[in-house]
Amino acid sequence: MVELSWLRGKVALVTGAAGGLGLGLSRVLAANGARVIMADVDAAGVQDASAALNESGGATLAFHLDVTDGESWNGVARQTREAFGEVDFLCNNAGIVGAYEMPLGVSPDVLRQVLDTNVVGALRGVQTFAPAMRERQRGHILNIGSMTGIDTVSAASDYSASKHALVSLCEAMRDELSPDGIIVSLLCPGAVDTGLGGKRIIDAASGSAPGAPPASSAAARPSNAMPVLDVAAIALAGLTRGDFFIFTHAEGRQRLQKRVDEMLLGFDTLDAVMQ
Ligand SMILES: NC(=O)c1ccc[n+]([C@@H]2O[C@H](COP(=O)([O-])OP(=O)(O)OC[C@H]3O[C@@H](n4cnc5c(N)ncnc54)[C@H](O)[C@@H]3O)[C@@H](O)[C@H]2O)c1
Repeated sequence: MVELSWLRGKVALVTGAAGGLGLGLSRVLAANGARVIMADVDAAGVQDASAALNESGGATLAFHLDVTDGESWNGVARQTREAFGEVDFLCNNAGIVGAYEMPLGVSPDVLRQVLDTNVVGALRGVQTFAPAMRERQRGHILNIGSMTGIDTVSAASDYSASKHALVSLCEAMRDELSPDGIIVSLLCPGAVDTGLGGKRIIDAASGSAPGAPPASSAAARPSNAMPVLDVAAIALAGLTRGDFFIFTHAEGRQRLQKRVDEMLLGFDTLDAVMQ
């Protein structure tokens, strides 16, 4: 069991905290004595979630935040400093799925929305809070990636592409920030038991009826979906150890291996043709 007592009194900001994994992370952080800013584009939802955690002894505040909007980040940064002081721990969790389509079915507009939330949103968070962490020479940043960013889930190609981009961005973030004492971690969960899979974006131009069922079985809640509190506990234990890649589902190793083997085959071919 990894000791989480270092979280006591720390200021943590979790995006996408109205429900799902963000709420699970907020709950575990609050239970370990952190003061938690719960931020979400769903203002009423995050308010209710924060009130419920406070009723059970948590010290949380709820702020409206749209991670795609720089002004919204600035507002939250200002409110957070006034209420709790500097942020010790940023958790870029807010994320959306795309249209659950193979590439030929992905609309550029939907892909842009997914990238704007899942990649640019995380970048904005880091650009908002990392400068103050750098000045203090300490801080933790946890980004929520996905196993779909480690291998490729073709049936959710827009979402998968966004999570691949996030992996690369996080590796670069780690290289840039670790010399300043900032620990950057990337959680890559397999399936988590949340409502995310049912929230595919309906492209206005495609004529699909709003609320239509997800286009692929990838959208269903898989049988191996892990409870949010278990995923949150794995994430916080990994971050406490200073791990960069944090995984939740052991079967991900085979998925990665398959992809790496295919890449290495390309180099084997290169070696062969160069001889
Ligand atoms: N559920 C899974 O199986 C799974 C697997 C791997 C990774 N993830 C990742 O975990 C993270 C959390 O997902 P979840 O499953 O809890 O989903 P969820 O839909 O239950 O929660 C996502 C939260 O993000 C908020 N949000 C969406 N857009 C936002 C924006 N622009 N600004 C601020 N908040 C916004 C939503 O209102 C919601 O409260 C995401 O990054 C997701 O990609 C989920």
